[in-house]
Amino acid sequence: MNNLGPNKDFARRLIAWQKRHGRHDLPWQKQHDPYRVWLAEIMLQQTQVATVIPYYRRFLARFPGLAGLAAAPQEEVMALWSGLGYYARARNLQRAAQTIVARHGGRFPRRIEDIEQLPGIGRSTAAAVAVFAFGARAAILDGNVKRVLARVFGIDGFPGEKALENRLWALAESLLPARDIEAYTQGLMDLGATLCSRRQPRCGDCPFAAQCVALRDGRIAELPTPRAPRAVPQRAVRVLVLLNRGSVLLERRPPQGIWGGLLSLPELPEGALPRRYAGAQPLPVVRHAFTHFRLDIAPLAAKVSRRDTAPDGVWLSLKRLDAAPLPAPIRKILESL
Ligand code: ADE
Repeated sequence: MNNLGPNKDFARRLIAWQKRHGRHDLPWQKQHDPYRVWLAEIMLQQTQVATVIPYYRRFLARFPGLAGLAAAPQEEVMALWSGLGYYARARNLQRAAQTIVARHGGRFPRRIEDIEQLPGIGRSTAAAVAVFAFGARAAILDGNVKRVLARVFGIDGFPGEKALENRLWALAESLLPARDIEAYTQGLMDLGATLCSRRQPRCGDCPFAAQCVALRDGRIAELPTPRAPRAVPQRAVRVLVLLNRGSVLLERRPPQGIWGGLLSLPELPEGALPRRYAGAQPLPVVRHAFTHFRLDIAPLAAKVSRRDTAPDGVWLSLKRLDAAPLPAPIRKILESL
């Protein structure tokens, strides 16, 4: 547990810090027009303030109000967005403007539940708009805020995971101040974007330096916990190491698929071992990691006569392995012989 004491202290510290050290002169601040607030919040999704500012100004110069945006040709909206990236944001922005015209008589809705229904607006963006436009007492929880909370309160686990995300929402709501919601919300954003950055946080300047669990425990680099690597599918094959007087039987792989065009050991089909290899000797399994799966290769070695073997096989002297086009794990098996 951290020693923040009552959650009131969190908001108090953050608001005091925001008023002194936060950002106050961004072009979407000091006004409460929901259209402008909304446009800024959409542009600021995935995009940094410095990049957004000129786009925000150009966009408003062309579309100073919601009705004009709703009625504009889509190409014109896209052209103004060009270079900002994540273009679904621009298409959703215009669709939302059209929805507001059609369903809300052209007036930006005040209720968070209505704002959240608009295309391109999730729970956190809806709350940010409601806070900055209407002074609503609502919690935000974007990637930056998750990082701040995970560090200050020492919360383990990947914050994109649903159960943890629900806990973080509950925490975010429990921290809300009774007053000064705007400075508080802006403070969370400012802290996450400036001091409490992912890679090089400036903990020396942080208002929570004395309370932060991650800082206290030396876990700043570990929190928030990154997404667990996806489970890698596993496959297994059996291969034959058929030997005849110092040579091994190889097959050329088909051009498509793994190891296309290389020479490799013949693969046994899945299922029971053919009777002729019943006496073959199992060699140690070699594990190989591909990008998308893991392959366990189980070799079975047997001595055979050259007449026994497949007509399209290639006999290679074990002394000539170096020059042969072999996949690395197959080379490893052959070099161990
Ligand atoms: N990131 C998201 N919303 C923001 C805002 N209103 N000010 C600064 N950065 C933000």
